[in-house]
Amino acid sequence: MTKNVLAETQKNSSKSKKRSSSTSISLYSPKLSLVILVPCVIIFIFLQTHTLIQFVQSSSSSPSSWSFLSKWNNININNCSLELKAMAVKLRNSVTFLPLKDLRYDKTALQGHTWFMSSMYDTHEEGEVQYQHFPSVASEGRLLCILGHDNHDGSWNSYALAWPETLPYNATLLKGLTFISYNHYNYDNIWHGLSAMVPFVAWHRRLGSCRIPNRWILYHWGELRTKMGSWLGHLMEATYGGALNIEGFDGIEGPACFEEAVVMRHNEGGMSRERRMEVYDLMRCKARVYCNVSLVDGDPVVKGKDVAVIIGLTLFMRTGARSFRNDSAVVEIFQGECLKVEGCRFRVAYSNNLSFCDQVSLMSSTDILVSPHGAQLTNMFFMDRNSSVMEFFPKGWLKLAGVGQFVYHWIASWSGMRHRGAWRDPHGDDCPYPEDNRRCFSIYKASKIGHNATFFGEWVRNVLQEVKHSKTEEASSLRSTGCACD
Ligand SMILES: *[C@@H]1O[C@H](CO)[C@@H](O)[C@H](O)[C@H]1NC(C)=O
Ligand SMILES: *[C@@H]1O[C@H](CO)[C@@H](O)[C@H](O)[C@H]1NC(C)=O
Ligand SMILES: *[C@@H]1O[C@H](CO)[C@@H](O)[C@H](O)[C@H]1NC(C)=O
Ligand SMILES: *[C@@H]1O[C@H](CO)[C@@H](O)[C@H](O)[C@H]1NC(C)=O
Ligand SMILES: *[C@@H]1O[C@H](CO)[C@@H](O)[C@H](O)[C@H]1NC(C)=O
Ligand SMILES: *[C@@H]1O[C@H](CO)[C@@H](O)[C@H](O)[C@H]1NC(C)=O
Ligand SMILES: *[C@@H]1O[C@H](CO)[C@@H](O)[C@H](O)[C@H]1NC(C)=O
Repeated sequence: MTKNVLAETQKNSSKSKKRSSSTSISLYSPKLSLVILVPCVIIFIFLQTHTLIQFVQSSSSSPSSWSFLSKWNNININNCSLELKAMAVKLRNSVTFLPLKDLRYDKTALQGHTWFMSSMYDTHEEGEVQYQHFPSVASEGRLLCILGHDNHDGSWNSYALAWPETLPYNATLLKGLTFISYNHYNYDNIWHGLSAMVPFVAWHRRLGSCRIPNRWILYHWGELRTKMGSWLGHLMEATYGGALNIEGFDGIEGPACFEEAVVMRHNEGGMSRERRMEVYDLMRCKARVYCNVSLVDGDPVVKGKDVAVIIGLTLFMRTGARSFRNDSAVVEIFQGECLKVEGCRFRVAYSNNLSFCDQVSLMSSTDILVSPHGAQLTNMFFMDRNSSVMEFFPKGWLKLAGVGQFVYHWIASWSGMRHRGAWRDPHGDDCPYPEDNRRCFSIYKASKIGHNATFFGEWVRNVLQEVKHSKTEEASSLRSTGCACD
């Protein structure tokens, strides 16, 4: 693969060498300047090719582009002729900025290659995250530059590619690695925020050799954002081992160009289940370390003996919309079944008043998570792999809530959990329109969830039995040995 790319690069550059030198002959007829210019152009192109090839080679082993840039800096255009200087000026002037948000695609912003940086294509290998990397072979060694302070209208923000030694006028070069995120929803919602971060963790884990970004730049519809929700901020701090530097371009007037940039705009799109699981494994592990939760759980390790495994059964409650209509009745049912099983530990927690680390710690000792449909369920991936989730919906969701209601089935599958199905309340608030009328959803959306003691009891008895069985089987293989990227 790398060899092919290399061969391609060499072919291309020898072609461009021929093209450039023949152009220069026709353009500059005086013999004297020809004598000076041709060697200069050849040296210039040779250095360029040489550097590009070196970059291709080094990018497979050490992805740092610093050596690449410092080589560029050593090419002193001042040694060459006026004509070559004029060419550099032309290159600098030809850097073209396009709007970050391409309004031609506003009806199809979520499809294909998006309205964000619409002229660019992602790099994508089977099963891997889709990303853009600058500078790269695909960008012909050019850096990404962004003129993007606007936080109200993304079509006023713009981007361009430029060669490192002919950056646009007044550009500020930002050193190190920059992560640039595009999110169609927002960075406050746990689920949408997480979806935007997962590809960066995937890149960090595999393609970026665990490198830590020097800064993050967050865009929503091409508009600059300088904050993410607290839960997400903690998770990223945990994953990357320190406070995030979210760029606001304060004090930067002109364009910012990035020594190295990685751009994500397709969330988890394209990633295989295996890759997603690796990402969730890494975030779970780092979050536990960050929150001082022991990586080795306290269960007895003895397998096949009489020692009972511990099973954590947690009722994770909501308040307000989609809470249980009668919490204490639901508690009674689950607590009663837990009491009947040796080793079962029952807990009730409210998601509204738990800190990030409270949630991580709670989930680390939970094997069966019982919770209504809602953002708090995103915490499920902090449980050990193969843990169980039982989900509850109010009336009317199956028909009216759309495909988004299955997100916790998806997260369970991607993070290696077992989704044990959902209970859908057959009873609920009355709707004055026919049941499947969309207007009913605004009523159902905010309603509460009832209970069915018979059904809940049978359901959790079965889950408890299966979990007890598989935990006993798996007990010896569960021990963790530290996080990836340590
Ligand atoms: C260009 O000139 C500088 C000193 O002005 C020198 O150090 C450098 O080696 C020269 N580079 C080339 C390619 O001739
Ligand atoms: C660069 O910045 C200076 C001072 O702010 C300004 O006068 C000049 O027009 C800018 N140049 C370009 C090409 O934008
Ligand atoms: C974890 O432990 C370290 C050192 O003991 C402490 O500085 C840090 O505040 C703790 N973090 C949490 C979330 O408790
Ligand atoms: C809630 O359930 C409990 C236990 O089943 C019952 O005693 C109580 O009356 C119920 N509360 C309401 C408001 O229905
Ligand atoms: C957390 O919230 C629940 C529901 O509002 C409340 O019953 C409980 O007392 C709260 N716990 C703490 C520690 O504030
Ligand atoms: C999860 O379950 C699968 C299938 O039962 C099993 O092969 C795997 O070892 C389990 N993983 C862990 C971490 O227990
Ligand atoms: C409760 O669940 C049981 C078992 O699934 C079912 O037979 C019964 O009809 C349900 N009761 C109500 C009131 O829906």
